[in-house]
Amino acid sequence: MAEELIIAASTNKKERYDILIPQIELLVTGEPDIIANFSNIAAALKQTMNFFWVGFYIVKHDQLVLGPFQGPIACTRINFGKGVCGTSWKEKKTIVVPNVDEFPGHIACSSASKSEIVLPAFKNGEVALVLDVDSNVLNDFDDTDREALEKVMRIVEKLL
Ligand code: SME
Repeated sequence: MAEELIIAASTNKKERYDILIPQIELLVTGEPDIIANFSNIAAALKQTMNFFWVGFYIVKHDQLVLGPFQGPIACTRINFGKGVCGTSWKEKKTIVVPNVDEFPGHIACSSASKSEIVLPAFKNGEVALVLDVDSNVLNDFDDTDREALEKVMRIVEKLL
């Protein structure tokens, strides 16, 4: 596995994702432990994309439970259908929230969080976990983030 990430100096978000994603694939290749892999994926995303908060919530029975993450401490459990994460789980789709204050039922783990994207990963057709990314800037996520982070989720699915 790579010991150091090559981080594009470019301010172009797509270029940074394009350089990062193959490195994420390499980072997890040959390592079977999912906690180790999710930890490094969260760190690689935070380090490269400078997100305010990035982490995994893993489906355990009838709740999402906090998994490996980078950023301030966060809520540990989220119910099905609750908040952005629980809604992504329920609706089995990526959700982009330009302004968290306008999302009914948003769960505010930090008042600094202003916009958010949540993406599900599937195992046998069911949501196994979600990736939650928060920004301290309004309207910070667009189709570039959605497409790139969905590629990351396809890598994550291969680990499940
Ligand atoms: N805002 C999320 C909760 C998780 S924290 O943001 C890390 C939600 O509404 O599901």
